[in-house]
Amino acid sequence: MIILSRNECPFPPSNTVLPKIKKYVISLNRYEVPELSESLITKLSDYVGISEGYVHLVPGSEAFFVYLREYMLMEHLHFVFSSPTFVPAQEDLSVVGIKTYDIPLTKCFKLDYARLKSFGDKKKVLYIINPNNPTGNKVIGCKLIPRLLQHYKLVVLDEAYYEFSSLTCKNLVHEYPNIIILRTFSKAFCLAGARIGYFLAEPELTKAVMRTARKYDISILSLSAALGALESIDYMNHVVEKIKRIKEYVVEAISRISDIQVLDTLCNFILIKKEGYSSTRLSNELLKHGIMVKPLQGRLNEYVRVSIGTEKEMREFLSAIKKIR
Ligand SMILES: Cc1ncc(COP(=O)(O)O)c(C=O)c1O
Repeated sequence: MIILSRNECPFPPSNTVLPKIKKYVISLNRYEVPELSESLITKLSDYVGISEGYVHLVPGSEAFFVYLREYMLMEHLHFVFSSPTFVPAQEDLSVVGIKTYDIPLTKCFKLDYARLKSFGDKKKVLYIINPNNPTGNKVIGCKLIPRLLQHYKLVVLDEAYYEFSSLTCKNLVHEYPNIIILRTFSKAFCLAGARIGYFLAEPELTKAVMRTARKYDISILSLSAALGALESIDYMNHVVEKIKRIKEYVVEAISRISDIQVLDTLCNFILIKKEGYSSTRLSNELLKHGIMVKPLQGRLNEYVRVSIGTEKEMREFLSAIKKIR
């Protein structure tokens, strides 16, 4: 099975990861190695260009949403997002009784800034992904975000695809006390299985949002993997460039197939649709050829999202898509 449904990195982690894991394996009898998280924060602060006190580790973005959910419950907050988008653990929010509101993206998949602004109040948390998953485009520029910050209790800006797009509003965390910028090691750093990410925020805000986090939430193995990955930013850049080149080749090849339409993105995935096929039918057909993609719903229900894999995987994907009749 070729898995192109989760926006994972198709390449192994950098060869600087294993030596770091080996170095810290001996300490697995302990709950923590303080020097390890300290070094990781220092390295991250250098990498991101934001002071250490504003950098916080989490066991993946999905886990961050568990802390956020508890914070919203304690503060009686509501959650606002703009479909089509990816909301980690969205069902959980409604299950625990948090009100969620969808202010859909505009026709060209931008944030509906005017509606969002008038809808905002200090009881609401606004979640934005930029560039967005699954539309893959820039939904807002950094200049407009401070105005939204005035209207919302908190804005969570997810920059999971930062390394592919170079889009970031990271500097806003130094100016505004109610923004969180969320990042992950799962995509460009090829560490999805290590379950580790980080966010940037003003320290008082972090304290409030992380009230229910456990002290030893992130394993020593995950911390050392992330530290190892940061030792080779060159490898990460090489991976990102390679994925972009493969994406270009796939987009070009698909655009020559008459009944298939392709939408390119600023991320590590593309969207495709085939004339006369729903997203579910197209993904089921691909599944018959051993290829797993993500069928989209709602306004994008004719499209499937295809994560960019290795050259070999994408050649198989192209050959499969041509066979569907
Ligand atoms: C926007 C966005 N945020 C977060 C994640 C998941 O990140 P993590 O692996 O850190 O939980 C994804 C994964 O597809 C994503 O698209």
